Amino acid sequence: MQSLLKFITCGSVDDGKSTLIGHMLYDAKLIFADQEKALELDSKVGSNDGGIDYSLLLDGLMAEREQGITIDVAYRYFTSDRRSFIVADTPGHEEYTRNMAVGASFADLAVILVDASKGVLVQTRRHSRICALMGIRHVVYAINKMDLVDYDEGTFDDISVEIEKMATEYNFETKYLIPVSATVGDNITKISPRMPWYHGKTLLAYLEEIDVSDKMAQDGFVLPVQRVSRPNREYRGFQGQIAAGEIRTGDEITVLPSGNTSRVKSIYNMMEKTDSAFAGQAVSVELEDEIDVSRGCVLVKGVKPNVGKMFTARILWMDDVKLVEGKNYYLKIGTLTVPAIIMNIKHKIDVNTGAKIKTERLFKNEIAVCDIACSDPVVYDKFSVQKDLGCFILIDRVTNMTSACGVVEHALRREGNLTWHEMDITRELRAKQKGQTPKTIWMTGLSGAGKSTLINELEKRLFAQGKHTMILDGDNVRMGLNKNLGFKEVDRIENIRRVSEVAKLMNDAGLIVLTSFISPFRQDRRSAREVIGNDNFIEVYVSTSLEECEKRDVKGLYKKARSGEIPNFSGISSPYEPPKQPEITIDTAGQTVEESVDYLLKELEKLGC
Ligand code: ADX
Repeated sequence: MQSLLKFITCGSVDDGKSTLIGHMLYDAKLIFADQEKALELDSKVGSNDGGIDYSLLLDGLMAEREQGITIDVAYRYFTSDRRSFIVADTPGHEEYTRNMAVGASFADLAVILVDASKGVLVQTRRHSRICALMGIRHVVYAINKMDLVDYDEGTFDDISVEIEKMATEYNFETKYLIPVSATVGDNITKISPRMPWYHGKTLLAYLEEIDVSDKMAQDGFVLPVQRVSRPNREYRGFQGQIAAGEIRTGDEITVLPSGNTSRVKSIYNMMEKTDSAFAGQAVSVELEDEIDVSRGCVLVKGVKPNVGKMFTARILWMDDVKLVEGKNYYLKIGTLTVPAIIMNIKHKIDVNTGAKIKTERLFKNEIAVCDIACSDPVVYDKFSVQKDLGCFILIDRVTNMTSACGVVEHALRREGNLTWHEMDITRELRAKQKGQTPKTIWMTGLSGAGKSTLINELEKRLFAQGKHTMILDGDNVRMGLNKNLGFKEVDRIENIRRVSEVAKLMNDAGLIVLTSFISPFRQDRRSAREVIGNDNFIEVYVSTSLEECEKRDVKGLYKKARSGEIPNFSGISSPYEPPKQPEITIDTAGQTVEESVDYLLKELEKLGC
């Protein structure tokens, strides 16, 4: 088969992108084929007991769709005598940056259009920067609309100088400039007689010839496991697309993150058994030993990617909702998805100048360098070393939208310098000594809902039963541990994060922890649950209505909030998201505290507390 070139075109609506591609296809009488063919060419086909596994095929290219990105990236397939092409045609409207990033993540090369009559614009820089961010190493600058500048060599030269200057910081492996006219057809498929001063290639000829094979590619073998296939009792194969290197039957491989090793028993490529397979092929690998391998694991040989939870990355924010430090997302890297937090934004990057700007927030289309912490170890590498293990997306946990895409820059040194010490006196021993099961009873609800009152009474009852308890109360904690935090979203997230960690430590100490925090955001409570552990976490929703809380207004805060004296007040000027499936809901209206606590104790008992 001819080699395949996957490319993207970048330009806004009136830059002539479609005309350019249209002209190339028309002139060269290139044939369109359907999308399925394009996908097949991308060789993302896995074998499923004989048949083509279309779900695996769709997994790669369509992952964005699954995540709910409603984009119009159209993948078109065409072929010339010398090469096959897939072009990701991204429309030039408002969602452009995001669409372009999605398109760019699949491409080997970008054709960036520059309007000769306008020269290098802000968007030319933006396009170049996004391409660089998404790992595109080859670019063609098509200086279009040369007919509008009378095919002037001087204009082309001036633009070339500017592009050379601009592109130095992106480190593209190859860069080629072609003066064209998409409408007239100059230098698209035929050399134009109207620009005799141009001695280079036509766009099509260049695209047919360029070598985009990865010269930096490592020798080592990398296979991110996409799924475990068990068509029958005898066979357990690990399927995925080989990201790098070659594998042979009998090779010793290491499974990451566990570090377990085994030997390759068999390899299937498509439907056929084979002795070896290499990068780009979709395979099913069987191992000699029954070791633990699941989706998200990576099989390697001859390379040592990082296994860890923290790294520094460069991200492109694509969500309408701004990025807030400390917020929890899903991070999808390789074939693994884990909860992750943006610990801090180190700086954002001015897309026009490259300047580093200090910030705590990131808005749509902005690029930033930040530190990320995952909840579980992930297998990753620097993007410059291993593309598949070096790029990721962040998914909003509530909307399921892709919020950002990014590339790993380096591991966080501090993580490498820390070692977890297993202690001899364990949580279980401490709990046993106290004769109880440590739990965290997490009360959430509006200010004035009655959380602190309930928890106080509840603790007295548990204490009387001989239980070892501890209370973490919003107002109290904010006078000590969290005295440096306010009520902005970012502060509330940090408030809950710290409290979760403390509650977990106290559970480790064998204590039953009772907390009373508004904890208004669903996602933060979910994070708390993850930190503390689902089995130990009991979410109690104190469902007193806003009207009732405001009527009580024990601390006089609602009055102040209504008059604007207190900003960001939960329920008034800051949202409260009630739990969807709390373990316990308690409505205090019309009940005495005594009755409420009786009810709580009964429910807690049912939950093994
Ligand atoms: S949380 O949102 O971060 O979970 P937390 O429970 O720690 O809040 O603290 C809430 C308490 O702080 C309230 O009961 C109230 O006494 C006080 N408070 C002061 N300002 C605010 C505010 N803007 N919003 C909510 N509570 C506030």
